[in-house]
Amino acid sequence: MFTRRNLIVGSGAALACGGLMPAAGLAASSVSLPEDFASARPDAVKAGPARGNLVAMTFDDGPHPTLTPALLDMLKERRIRATFYVIGRNAARYPDIIKRMVDEGHEIGNHSWSHPFLSRLGSGGVLRELDRTSDAVYKAVQRIPTTLRPPYGALTDRQAHFIAKDREMPTILWSVDPEDWRRPGSSVVASRILNRTGPGAIILTHDIHAPTVRAMPTALDGLLDRGFEFATVSMILGRRDWSKLRWRLPQVADATS
Ligand code: NI
Repeated sequence: MFTRRNLIVGSGAALACGGLMPAAGLAASSVSLPEDFASARPDAVKAGPARGNLVAMTFDDGPHPTLTPALLDMLKERRIRATFYVIGRNAARYPDIIKRMVDEGHEIGNHSWSHPFLSRLGSGGVLRELDRTSDAVYKAVQRIPTTLRPPYGALTDRQAHFIAKDREMPTILWSVDPEDWRRPGSSVVASRILNRTGPGAIILTHDIHAPTVRAMPTALDGLLDRGFEFATVSMILGRRDWSKLRWRLPQVADATS
């Protein structure tokens, strides 16, 4: 029953579950997905249902040591929940920011460990990128991401299918892209978001760029003025709120994995 739902995580989980040291650094243990977690279908999505008034803000590539906390303040002030597609090595470096995200109701997604073109990697390489990131998030908050956003959106259909099947992680793309990474300036970022967002939108931005974070008060207040409500990615997909999933801590370290 749990074979496919037991996600492999590395030594961090072994340590977290009671001090079991991995032999030769290779042992892994597993985190069972919560029983109230819905399976990954479809494999990849760009937006939620275009009805109602829900939208999802997503922030990629962080955490950033100063910009992300500033953004978290803006979100908190407006009681907005968002989804952060973190880079694993940044998550490992700033676990306190990951913890703050979770404490304040945000969802954490997987954006790979080192931000490569996953489409150029084989299955083993892809899984290493994803699992290492999940492990870093696990170490910070004892839960793991349940959705993936591939860097550059670069993932083949076959890979998306494989990841949905093997890691129960749907691939989350986006429907609104203000191209903030080109640094067009805060007012352009804000107006692009406001002009292009409709019901069900998944909005792609990056919390590692100062102009993007500076654009947020205008963008967020504008969306609120237009009657939109903010949801995390899991919620916009009709899944259970990620922050409320009932996680079970790993029971055993499986030295043969
Ligand atoms: Ni990215």
